[in-house]
Amino acid sequence: MKPDFTRRLLQWNKSSNNRAMPWKGEKDPYKIWLSEIILQQTRVEQGWSYYEKFIAAFPTIMHLAKASEEKVFKMWEGLGYYSRCKNLIATARKIASDYKGKFPDTYDEIIALPGIGPYTASAISSFAFNAPHAVLDGNVQRIIARYFGITTPVDTTEGKKLYQNLAQSLLHRDEPGIYNQAIMDFGAVICKPQNPLCQDCVQQKECEGFRQNIVTQLPIKQKAIIRKERWFYYFIIEYKGKWYIKQRTAKDIWENLFEFVLYESPAAMDNISLKLPFLKKLVNGRPCQLESISRPYRQQLTHQTIHGRFVKIQVGETLPTLSDFLLIDKKQLSKYAFPRFITTFLGEPVSLKSESEV
Ligand code: ADE
Repeated sequence: MKPDFTRRLLQWNKSSNNRAMPWKGEKDPYKIWLSEIILQQTRVEQGWSYYEKFIAAFPTIMHLAKASEEKVFKMWEGLGYYSRCKNLIATARKIASDYKGKFPDTYDEIIALPGIGPYTASAISSFAFNAPHAVLDGNVQRIIARYFGITTPVDTTEGKKLYQNLAQSLLHRDEPGIYNQAIMDFGAVICKPQNPLCQDCVQQKECEGFRQNIVTQLPIKQKAIIRKERWFYYFIIEYKGKWYIKQRTAKDIWENLFEFVLYESPAAMDNISLKLPFLKKLVNGRPCQLESISRPYRQQLTHQTIHGRFVKIQVGETLPTLSDFLLIDKKQLSKYAFPRFITTFLGEPVSLKSESEV
């Protein structure tokens, strides 16, 4: 039985879905892939301009494969989750070398590429090659949970199987690409996480969640996200108009991005002064002056919350303790890719709070 859900979804798509996005209806697998990588952890509104910037700079996968890592990272700056950017470069280079620049056209080859899981492989193979693979992400899970009134948690082995089977059973076999884009749009426009538009919904009469009045409680998750709190104190050490910066290399957030001298504190610090042991060790008796302490900054990531401040310090001599840092002219900062946490600070007027205000 082909569920009526599918027929009604495609009908809604044809008659009422006017969600416009630059990658919609795109057939070039390279452009589809790029948009899907951007959209993996980024909202459409934010990803839109990045997609256009990338396509303008790298019109084909060969352009991207030949670009320097620095250039690609700089263009990715602000999007976050930089492993996507690393994988973007790796995949472009792999397709250039292993496939002579021609994007592979089967689901199995596509899912074997770096940074591509079942969702992205289904999206690319269905949009570009009409392959019959249903997309399943949080949005589709939400639609399915509500439509069928499923209370099995999505994050269990049983739940995952159930949702996967249902998603695949709803797929339109002749038009999988159109179906997949339609269900994504339906989740964004009608069956939204908050304030779903049940009154306008073509599925309402058969929606079990609506019948039971449990729409906003679905889907059910077993585990709540636990967020770790971290406190980052950035010291901007200035010597003759130059700042010390370094690339992050650890397997941690913001890998490959640049930063200032970082002291990660186990808790919030009430007093920041030159007496801080970390600073004393860093400066090691050389002449220095505390110039400013920023307001507190905060950034919410999926699994952690980053808090912190930026502290400017002028030094009268270079610091041997920072021998593995670059000392660059302030005007050169824009050449390096920094995390959003830092670019937000850099984009704001300098505050000149005294220590006592902290
Ligand atoms: N999220 C992931 N892929 C998408 C797409 N093609 N359109 C809208 N949102 C998406």
